Amino acid sequence: MEVIKSPAEMQKAAGALRSEASPLGLVPTMGALHDGHISLIKRATTECAAVVVSIFVNPSQFGLGEDFELYPSSLDSDLEICENLEIAVVYAPPADAMFEKGYDTWIEVPSLAAGLCGANRPGHFRGVATVVAKLFSICRPERVYFGEKDYQQLVLIRRMVLDLNLGVDVIGCPTVRENDGLAMSSRNANLEKNERERAIFISRGLCRAQDLFVAGERSVNELKKAAHEELEKGDVEIDYIEVIDPETMELLEVAFDSSRMAISAKVGAIRLIDNLPLKG
Ligand code: PAJ
Repeated sequence: MEVIKSPAEMQKAAGALRSEASPLGLVPTMGALHDGHISLIKRATTECAAVVVSIFVNPSQFGLGEDFELYPSSLDSDLEICENLEIAVVYAPPADAMFEKGYDTWIEVPSLAAGLCGANRPGHFRGVATVVAKLFSICRPERVYFGEKDYQQLVLIRRMVLDLNLGVDVIGCPTVRENDGLAMSSRNANLEKNERERAIFISRGLCRAQDLFVAGERSVNELKKAAHEELEKGDVEIDYIEVIDPETMELLEVAFDSSRMAISAKVGAIRLIDNLPLKG
């Protein structure tokens, strides 16, 4: 496994890899790797001839007052994990190599970025879209792997790939959870013990709504009310609970099969997100 830090070197290595081993896969991450990331990497290694994992905490997707400084970082143990996963290259550039002085090109996907997490995190998805497009042009993958855990991000990246003819296959992978249902996230490492216990009410809220959906409830108001009650038990600060069309992200009033409930809530200072397809 090679570890590359320079964009120019990565681009050269990607060209060579693609000519020897196709399809070339890419799993973009911000590190602090957990089993959610690992499930993406394993899927990529079974479906691709060679896999690049990028580890880069992208400053441009964090707003003022957000947790960029506190974002967990563990490059040494991340590299150890990658060593055991049949990865060809880990691309781990320093921030100033990705956004050099004078950097001035940004990608916006305004409609898909407007709601849900975008509403409270202005500029977040602009930073995500831009860094992901850069990672695609540096690592030159044919297939890219993203988690459904960050559902709005996944839909937005699919749109960007279509709109800009980027010519990569975007593969969405299911959310990996802890035994008690909490969606795995690098941010979970920053939860205090008491916060960790309260955080499980987010996935419980989704499950309550899913149970009601199975029982025939289609009113989004009722589904949201049930999820809300569950979240209140965890005393978390709700940012949003919505049911969305899984392709357009449009907010729904009447749920349908495979529409998704999405939740964002703050537990202490930590903002967590989760979502679930409603299936009857
Ligand atoms: P990060 O939060 O590190 O996540 C990297 C990838 O892992 C994303 O595609 C995310 O959806 C996926 N992932 C995270 N937790 C998961 C879980 N519990 N189950 C399945 N997949 C999970 O998302 C980002 O980084 C960044 O925004 C990035 C795309 C790298 C751009 O900077």
